[in-house]
Amino acid sequence: MLTRYIKVNSLNLEPEKIEETAKILKEGGLVAFPTETVYGLGADAFNPQAVRNIFKAKGRPQDNPLIIHIWSNEQLDKLVKNIPQKAHVLMNNFWPGPLTVVLPKKEGVMSEATSGLDTVGVRMPDHPVALKLFQRSGVAVAAPSANISGKPSPTGGLHVLKDLAGKIDVVLDGGSAKVGVESTVVDCTGEIPVILRPGGVTKEEMEEVVGEVLLDPALHRKTFKPKSPGMKYSHYAPDGIMYLVVGKSIKSLAEKLADISMKRYQAGYKVALLAFEDTLALIGEKPYIKLSLGSRDNLSITAAKIYGLLRQCDRLKIDFIIAEGCPRKGMGLAVMNRLEKASGGKIIRLQD
Ligand code: TXA
Ligand code: MG
Repeated sequence: MLTRYIKVNSLNLEPEKIEETAKILKEGGLVAFPTETVYGLGADAFNPQAVRNIFKAKGRPQDNPLIIHIWSNEQLDKLVKNIPQKAHVLMNNFWPGPLTVVLPKKEGVMSEATSGLDTVGVRMPDHPVALKLFQRSGVAVAAPSANISGKPSPTGGLHVLKDLAGKIDVVLDGGSAKVGVESTVVDCTGEIPVILRPGGVTKEEMEEVVGEVLLDPALHRKTFKPKSPGMKYSHYAPDGIMYLVVGKSIKSLAEKLADISMKRYQAGYKVALLAFEDTLALIGEKPYIKLSLGSRDNLSITAAKIYGLLRQCDRLKIDFIIAEGCPRKGMGLAVMNRLEKASGGKIIRLQD
């Protein structure tokens, strides 16, 4: 299959390009599109063959449900049975935006998209190209992130092309994704909302508008069966072996990170150290590659660059990635979740 690569200006939205792509989507094609979080790989959510093709193109396990993307609240009627009060509040406050709300699904929503669950995750992304594309296609759009299953998510059109060229119909490139990590997935089927996957809307921001919000225990304890099926698979993994180092003291972190990196480097491996600016400053000049996670005081910027950095390590054919962790507060929760997954759980915890 020949994949068309179409660049589109997010400001004037170049209607002919959107129209052409919307038609492909409507007719059952696979279209990668930009969102504010990461790029999505979309298909008509009510076309079973098109949805099956998404799983095939990504190599995605069948039991991992897709998020259904909408451009208008009116579409909810066809997708969900009822909307509890707290779900309403969350949608009103954070849509369009990086929040996926899991609700009881309506009969008629295909099990191909929801992997047989009786719930469905719905999201209205905050990106003019995505919203216009959906609206012009007239369909609800089932879409996972547009990467090969298990690899770091795509935050630019060229990331998608690298993973999926030849496997999908179109890549609509609308520039780089500004949030950089996926949406927060929140289960609203119970009394208290439960975060199944931390993401672009923080727990703290949600608590300000709905009161108590819980974290799925699977997010901190490996022994629990996660409720979000996608959370059990290996994810966001770079080609190299990755270690995540966590601790409180920046001095101890710097020493440990530098020590591990140097040992691997001296053993002849290609090493990349991923750390915050102040840590890198303490470590100073080194012969291996050093990449900045930005300032630990602005983890939104870290989130925006994290997948790009992991992909950069792949391009540089890095054997070992040694990464610094951060506190799980605000955006730190989503950043740490991605780093932990990317490292495959190889975490070194410092005592002080
Ligand atoms: O920001 C995002 O959410 C991006 C963009 C493209 O919208 N999409 C995305 O999709 O990250 P994906 O498929 O890579 O991740 C969807 C996550 C998975 O962990 C999946 O298991 C979970 O959402 N999920 C989807 N439907 C669910 C449901 N009904 N119940 C529980 N978890 C669900
Ligand atoms: Mg994904």
